[in-house]
Amino acid sequence: MSTEDPDADARRLAAVSLAADDPTGWFEHLYAAAADGSAVVPWDRGAPHPLLLDWIGDGERIRTGARALVVGFGPGFDAELLAHHGAQTTAFDVAPSAVAAARERFPGSPVDYRVADLLTPPDEWRHAFDLVVEIMTVQSMPPPFHPPATASVAGFVAPGGTLLVIATAAPETHPGGDAHGGPPWPLTRAEVNAFAQDGLHTVAVEHLDAVPPWYRWRAEFHRGSEEP
Ligand SMILES: C[S@@+](CC[C@H](N)C(=O)[O-])C[C@H]1O[C@@H](n2cnc3c(N)ncnc32)[C@H](O)[C@@H]1O
Repeated sequence: MSTEDPDADARRLAAVSLAADDPTGWFEHLYAAAADGSAVVPWDRGAPHPLLLDWIGDGERIRTGARALVVGFGPGFDAELLAHHGAQTTAFDVAPSAVAAARERFPGSPVDYRVADLLTPPDEWRHAFDLVVEIMTVQSMPPPFHPPATASVAGFVAPGGTLLVIATAAPETHPGGDAHGGPPWPLTRAEVNAFAQDGLHTVAVEHLDAVPPWYRWRAEFHRGSEEP
């Protein structure tokens, strides 16, 4: 296993799963290997995502007791941040080893860490969360899975609720962008706009030169409080 290129382990495991027509199986292999020290999780920043931190600011956006859902939580720092600001937080990931690692990393955490698949989410999560945070999960699956994954994410937002999406911007959206085979499969502008479905409307779509040469989307959507 390589530690020189932080993405090498992920790419190697992804290639095996994708060749077997399994878009998400490699995540479990990666987290399990990371648990025994034989691989690196490249998106483990050891801290919340900077664009989430910036969006949350002093936490005024989060009402105490608000029901929050973190999609594909990965290392768990984003979920812990929402809980720290008073949200009643559920966080899910398709990889059981990610759930085990988060529970071990944050003992006594109030976050409800769960195993679930964004492509087949629990029915009771539909329109159930006041704040939904999706950071780089949709883009971690090949493009044919983006529409169903996007529909699931939009469907989690309760009446009056907010969806925050942070994603890598597809190369054609910015100068010097280089197309490459995934993972990840960065989102086009149309794919970001597609979160405005199922009664959600767009509050803001930012295209940010956040970590050159990578551009990011940070987009916010809202569901009116009158909607079912
Ligand atoms: C690129 S990582 C991003 C992790 C985290 N959101 C972050 O920004 O650090 C994608 C995460 O989504 C999870 N994931 C991928 N496909 C998923 C699916 N269909 N359902 C739930 N989680 C999924 C992976 O296991 C991984 O933890």
